[in-house]
Amino acid sequence: MTQHFIVIGNPIAHSKSPEIHTLFAAQTGIEISYQRQYCPDDAASFTAVIEAFFQGGGVGANVTVPFKQIAYDCCAARGGLSEHAKVAGAVNTLLLNKTRLQSGVPLIGALYGDNTDGQGLVNHMLSLGWPLKDARIALIGAGGAARGVILPLIEAGIASLTLANRTLNKATALVDELRAASPVIHEQQIETCRTAELDGQFDIIINATSIGLSADTLPLSDNLNGHYAYDMMYGRELPFLQHFSARGAQTSDGYGMLIGQAALSFERWTGHAIDVVQATKTLHSR
Ligand code: ATR
Repeated sequence: MTQHFIVIGNPIAHSKSPEIHTLFAAQTGIEISYQRQYCPDDAASFTAVIEAFFQGGGVGANVTVPFKQIAYDCCAARGGLSEHAKVAGAVNTLLLNKTRLQSGVPLIGALYGDNTDGQGLVNHMLSLGWPLKDARIALIGAGGAARGVILPLIEAGIASLTLANRTLNKATALVDELRAASPVIHEQQIETCRTAELDGQFDIIINATSIGLSADTLPLSDNLNGHYAYDMMYGRELPFLQHFSARGAQTSDGYGMLIGQAALSFERWTGHAIDVVQATKTLHSR
């Protein structure tokens, strides 16, 4: 029997998720339909679309810009949230909690939200052979993208985290908030600084800002070096990666993170494990 999935966003026409999930389905031998779902940008429309989808027998939904926080609010108010979604303050994966459904709650009350973005990043770095255990990490950015990766990075056993942002007080406020939300983060030593003042030697430097969408470049110190540099963006020229590549670092864009988070969603929904390395090879060769 065909299992139905959607990715819900606005805009949504560019989404690569249907292609990725269709490949996963072929790899695991299950029959799925995975569609792009446009939704007007307001919470009431989002809730109505999600409710209609699950009411109609849908199995799982991915959530993308600008609905990740709305999906979080929806699950927090009516359903349940994974620890990663709680700390990220955002949901990218929706499913129904079968136990709650069987106990007779209305469908929307059984909505369960997870966030696989950060673990997708960690899994991609590990698959590249980048050492996260005991690594000194510099993370640039203090918006939603940065917030979502901090707990998974700490769980991967990093030694230290320096959070840099253009607006320093956003970085310090984020750290304070996350420390209060998670005992694991509370235990971790985290330094903050302005992006232009970030310097020294790191194992991995990660760009979690949205600067790649603009014509600007980050004001990076001449004294900032990393063995590895990762930009969470993909599909465009990334001056951040060019900068560190020219200084001898190994680099990667965020396409593998996209595949990684998708694989974790698929596994959560279907119980089938994905060979991410094989799937990435196939997608890259297209
Ligand atoms: P996202 O959900 O993609 O993280 P966001 O929450 O709007 O988006 O956060 C964008 C991040 O990119 C912020 O860290 C922002 O820095 P500020 O907090 O100082 O605004 C960073 N950013 C965006 N444009 C930037 C630029 N031109 N220079 C430096 N940082 C930039």
